[in-house]
Amino acid sequence: MLGLNFDNIDKQTSRKIAKLKDDPYLNKKYNRDLRIQQKMKYFNNHFINIDKGLNKKKVIDIGPAFGEFLEVCKFHNFGNVLGIDAKSGDCMGNPYYELSEIMCKVQNIPVEYCGLLWWIHNNKLKNDSVCIINSQGSIEQAFTKYINGDNHRGGQSVLKWIMNDELKYEFIKFIEECKRLLCSKGVLMIYGNGTSNVSKYNNLIVNLIEDIGGMKIKYTDCKRLHRIVKL
Ligand SMILES: C[S@@+](CC[C@H](N)C(=O)[O-])C[C@H]1O[C@@H](n2cnc3c(N)ncnc32)[C@H](O)[C@@H]1O
Repeated sequence: MLGLNFDNIDKQTSRKIAKLKDDPYLNKKYNRDLRIQQKMKYFNNHFINIDKGLNKKKVIDIGPAFGEFLEVCKFHNFGNVLGIDAKSGDCMGNPYYELSEIMCKVQNIPVEYCGLLWWIHNNKLKNDSVCIINSQGSIEQAFTKYINGDNHRGGQSVLKWIMNDELKYEFIKFIEECKRLLCSKGVLMIYGNGTSNVSKYNNLIVNLIEDIGGMKIKYTDCKRLHRIVKL
């Protein structure tokens, strides 16, 4: 049903995948079928009404991990996909990172492993060339420099945004870059994991979208979920 074709995976890669899945964390948390189901549901909830005429534009997933969201986008005929992931496995651990890299590679999902903040300042994509920018469960990790608490493997400890001017500057750059890249009717979806000061984070996003202009928050839980559309 979905694009993944395991027939093309050589024996060595299959063995590597099997070995990585033995990692205690992955063994407990990594369930491909469940992840596909969850990403299908997520796409249906948040992107099913996106203008199908935009499907030649790029879909960017921030922190794609094993690539299932982009896989589901391809299934829905949004095939021009790109992941932006961390430079190293510091946040989620090396086995998670390695398995992510292999799973994206075997599915021909291009991923730039450079970290979001670097990518924002250095990417060469053209204006209006992107129809979806998605960040699910990755915003706190991508901005980990401005987070107090343990982000490791989505740790359970209480995270807290450090609301300083540097964070605001980086967030402005992030939102401005998303605005530049998105085409009209394109969607920026930011679905965070949540922090103890999530209302301050919500205010930051709401105020920035208003100040920067040209984009509108179409749906939010006023906490960690913001679906923003370029006008
Ligand atoms: C909790 S996982 C979420 C994975 C996936 N989006 C999902 O919904 O299941 C966090 C993802 O963010 C990535 N990540 C961590 N630091 C990052 C950074 N600086 N830039 C981009 N992605 C990053 C991790 O490698 C991982 O893929």
